Amino acid sequence: ASPLLFFPRLVQWQRSHGRSGLPWQGTRDPYRVWLSEIMLQQTQVTTVLGYYSRFLERFPDVRALAAAPQEAVLALWSGLGYYSRARNLHRCAQAVVEQWGGAFPASAEQLQTLPGIGRSTAAAIAAFCFGERISILDGNVKRVLSRLLAFDGDLASLAQERRLWALAQDLLPAAPSHDEMVAWTQGLMDLGSSLCSRSKPDCSACPGAGLCLASAQGRTAEFPVRTRK
Ligand code: ADE
Repeated sequence: ASPLLFFPRLVQWQRSHGRSGLPWQGTRDPYRVWLSEIMLQQTQVTTVLGYYSRFLERFPDVRALAAAPQEAVLALWSGLGYYSRARNLHRCAQAVVEQWGGAFPASAEQLQTLPGIGRSTAAAIAAFCFGERISILDGNVKRVLSRLLAFDGDLASLAQERRLWALAQDLLPAAPSHDEMVAWTQGLMDLGSSLCSRSKPDCSACPGAGLCLASAQGRTAEFPVRTRK
């Protein structure tokens, strides 16, 4: 079976079984999506919810955040941890105002130039907000896709990581709709944090069943391959 079948399967699975109704899923406003992605990087959804709503109440748009004193930003972040995220958040807001006139740039390539926005976060924002045909590849998604493809390159190697980025991009159809890019991107994250877990994947319920090479070979525990650097 062609790995290209994974795209429509995951999109359908996300729509029926994936996360929905979260406050940042009801918007295509890059400010709101960016804020949620930064908060969700190392923090559980249930914890993020309260911080997210307090943050938006105090800083309703990127100009309000950029104009705030750093202490006010750190105070609202208090308890979320990883405080470099909060400092980069503030710096990013200032860069959006100073370099982009207060509007987030509308491509992953440009988003990635901003403080605290890495390649996968840039891709997520671009897919969610602009429907860009671009793949994400965070830690969980590396596990999902290395299993799907039985990708045995060592992800400690930058060259192998780049190969997996290219394969992730190759899983996209030629002209996906905005809604499909949203469901696909969220579906990869949702699958990686639920069925396709590190130690006990539930392959029987997976939208990749019948396509996933690692599962077919009983080798899910072998992927992803990563030697210590
Ligand atoms: N982790 C990072 N981004 C996320 C998202 N959009 N939904 C759930 N978990 C995430």
